Amino acid sequence: MSFDKHTDERPIFLVGFMGAGKTTVGRALAERLEYRFFDLDDQIAARAGKSVQAIFAELGESEFRQLERDLITSHKNDRRTVVALGGGAYVSEANRVLLRAIGKTVWLDCPLEVCLRRISEDGLRPLVGNPDEMAVLLEQRRPAYAQTDYVIRAGERAPAELVQEIVTLLGGR
Ligand code: S3P
Repeated sequence: MSFDKHTDERPIFLVGFMGAGKTTVGRALAERLEYRFFDLDDQIAARAGKSVQAIFAELGESEFRQLERDLITSHKNDRRTVVALGGGAYVSEANRVLLRAIGKTVWLDCPLEVCLRRISEDGLRPLVGNPDEMAVLLEQRRPAYAQTDYVIRAGERAPAELVQEIVTLLGGR
């Protein structure tokens, strides 16, 4: 454990574009801090009883966003948890306000090329367009992502290195 007893133990939310590494880094961060880990998309799928792709296809994006909001709210009394958000969760102003009230937010700022490579490898995301469309989407979202409490330059760096940087930024050792 690398925080002292005075450390703020409210949830840590990882923010960033699809393919930025939120789930991988979040899981490693939780392990390092001995916190619980949640992937919000997995929670949404479990709550809906269907995959994220099926939610988008059968219920539509607005239903997905409502579920996303409900699951964010469900973390409001958590302590010692890390939550990896989906790439669109920090885009709405209402969610930003909510997330920053509930806990600490960290943006994994990852170059588009790295995100695109990872996204193209799994083929599971409903909102993926061609590289030009993804570039536009990232630029649209950047001002929202920049409103986190902390920013980490992600890219190709090893998860352990990013974890160490986050722990240091949050006041740990
Ligand atoms: C989305 C990103 C996805 C998932 C959904 C919508 C987005 O999460 O929440 O497909 O709007 O960027 P990842 O960032 O984990 O891929």
